[in-house]
Amino acid sequence: MAGVLDKFKLTGKVAWITGASYGLGLAYAVAYAEAGAKIVFNDINQELVDRGMSEYKKLGIKAYGAVCDVTNEKQVTKFVSDVEKKVGPIDILVNNAGIIKRIPMTEMTLEQWNAVINVDLTGPFICSKAVIPSMIKRGGGKIINACSMMSELGRETVSAYAAAKGGLKMLTKNICSEYGQYNIQCNAIGPGYIATPQTAPLREIQPDGSLHPFDRFIRSKTPAQRWGETEDLMGLAVFLASPASDFINGQVVYIDGGILAYIGQDPSNLDASKFAKHKDKETLTKKAPAKKTAAKKTSSKTVTKKAPAKTAAKKSTSKK
Ligand SMILES: NC(=O)c1ccc[n+]([C@@H]2O[C@H](COP(=O)([O-])OP(=O)(O)OC[C@H]3O[C@@H](n4cnc5c(N)ncnc54)[C@H](O)[C@@H]3O)[C@@H](O)[C@H]2O)c1
Repeated sequence: MAGVLDKFKLTGKVAWITGASYGLGLAYAVAYAEAGAKIVFNDINQELVDRGMSEYKKLGIKAYGAVCDVTNEKQVTKFVSDVEKKVGPIDILVNNAGIIKRIPMTEMTLEQWNAVINVDLTGPFICSKAVIPSMIKRGGGKIINACSMMSELGRETVSAYAAAKGGLKMLTKNICSEYGQYNIQCNAIGPGYIATPQTAPLREIQPDGSLHPFDRFIRSKTPAQRWGETEDLMGLAVFLASPASDFINGQVVYIDGGILAYIGQDPSNLDASKFAKHKDKETLTKKAPAKKTAAKKTSSKTVTKKAPAKTAAKKSTSKK
């Protein structure tokens, strides 16, 4: 009988990671190659594909890469058919390609909105649609979608991204619902804030020795009080692609150091003057105990605890 760790192996499987010339896609591919999979990737132009090919070569990974826009169904169909001929049928699809546009919603053009929805939501639909029939024929497969904390939360300037990633969460559940009977598992990874070269400036220590404001914001929201590393995502990526997760379907697993479980730290560094109105309210509430003291003199402990107790007593009396 195979040992439990053997169930995490991807030996001989063909794994297609979309948009994997660099970034998280490349990191997933490296993990899959280590687990024994054959790597296939696409990207939006030849320059990026070449960049990816040279990265894989440096790492000693034999990969198949080609230009293919995930929003173009014709290109995707051709890419899948070429992969089937040159590498083999696709066992694992990671819908990783994604874009984000940070623009306040009322300033966003319809074109910009559509661009994000097309890559982040329609792309996974097109690519999944292209591999599912062959997965059904061959008795199963794995689809892993790149969700985000924005699949659950909103934030300023990311309306299209949040709408797309929220939609992708539901596409994940729906692929599971429709094709789970064919032994296809569709799950998603929702990374939190991951330290990458692109986000390095946001983590730079300030000239006065303090944390960058955004770094402070993220750490104060994260129980782990740190950013994630790309390595933090790899265990789950391999697990969801492997037979070890064969009875897990339609799930989004967030790798966020606990952000989504946490209401956030006491923001003691907030500027109190901005909340003057709120302060006034607090002062009013604080004045209330004066009544309490008066009541204390005349009645029992239960009555003095809170004014509503009196009301409750009144009500129950009148009922009688
Ligand atoms: N980096 C993070 O912290 C983070 C957090 C949450 C979710 N994600 C998601 O994970 C995925 C990867 O993130 P990343 O930071 O590595 O992104 P990235 O921008 O570094 O890489 C995305 C890749 O997708 C490619 N791509 C874009 N449009 C494409 C298209 N139409 N067709 C084919 N390829 C296309 C890009 O060229 C690039 O190679 C994205 O879907 C992203 O939304 C990332």
